[in-house]
Amino acid sequence: MACMRIGVLTGGGDCPGLNAVIRAVVVAGHRLHGDDTLGYLDGWRGVLERRSVPLRPARTGDLLARGGTVLGSSRTNPFATDDGPARALANLAEDGVDALVAVGGDDTLGVAQRLGAMGLRAVGVPKTIDNDLSGTEVTFGFHTAVQTATEAIDRLQTTAESHHRVIVCEVMGRHVGWIATYAGIAGGADEVLVPEVPFEMASVCERITRRHERGRYSSIVVVSEGALPTEGPDLEAARAATTSGAVDQFGHAQLGGIGAWLAAEIERRTGYESRHTTLGHIQRGGSPTAYDRVLATRFGVAAVEAVHDGDFGTMVALQGGQIVRVPLADAVGHPKTLDLALLEEVAAPFLG
Ligand code: F6P
Repeated sequence: MACMRIGVLTGGGDCPGLNAVIRAVVVAGHRLHGDDTLGYLDGWRGVLERRSVPLRPARTGDLLARGGTVLGSSRTNPFATDDGPARALANLAEDGVDALVAVGGDDTLGVAQRLGAMGLRAVGVPKTIDNDLSGTEVTFGFHTAVQTATEAIDRLQTTAESHHRVIVCEVMGRHVGWIATYAGIAGGADEVLVPEVPFEMASVCERITRRHERGRYSSIVVVSEGALPTEGPDLEAARAATTSGAVDQFGHAQLGGIGAWLAAEIERRTGYESRHTTLGHIQRGGSPTAYDRVLATRFGVAAVEAVHDGDFGTMVALQGGQIVRVPLADAVGHPKTLDLALLEEVAAPFLG
């Protein structure tokens, strides 16, 4: 297809590598096809409010290594209001946008898919530090988040050893334990607790006690923010301590607090002095790793090619090391949960 006007937006929680995708879309579109690119501000909110900026290749010089997103992001859902979807489509048409590259996770790409069914010509790029998007082996941003969490665990190991403490490190991962498991393996954690496998408080404490009886007087527990105990009073108590009741436009609860709850319970039940650290948004900020810069660039270039092939309603993805396209419908709506073999076979021999 001849040169086009490509819209690009970044939605949902930000993550390292977003700017690298923007750069790739702008530069590849311009150099390979003579495209011009319009960047919508703050995700779908910018489309609804018709707020955008022209993106020029000459202005993308510092984007590759820069964290966050220069376009801004939001968790705005056009389907939250009756007129939102039609307004989004009308605004894109008014702006002369031939195709939209939506960079986001399940929510942002879910909107792209639904608007696609109404006529939007969209291609998705899979983003999230949580790595929970189906259809792709990995999302960009995950690798950087794991690196950040691993460095934090390395630091927690030495202070835990010095003070003979249990330290609980809470990492992100609303529905899935990819960050906890990867960082737990890489950081040599003694316990890894994930949303996919509800934990028994009694067993966690028993394992820590056994470990300390063997002469190791410090332990590192890595827990995903969405991990919870098995049914019973512990579940009720943990739930009360971790959910504020606030939800976003996609209905997701704001989580946080399981690390603090766990540390207090471990100390109460084992008698070992315990502390907790919540890494929170530190995992989302900062410069992407080289791996994420390369992956984000591959995704951005591939998205431009998908647009020019007219392959709309797809998401670029990594499978077997190759960039492929998968239907958006296959990618959204069902999170990619942890490969339990990682926990049960790779992490397990080193736990406890
Ligand atoms: O983008 C995914 C994520 O980082 C989750 O791991 C986390 O639960 C959530 O975003 C936090 O969102 P917010 O920045 O809106 O608090």
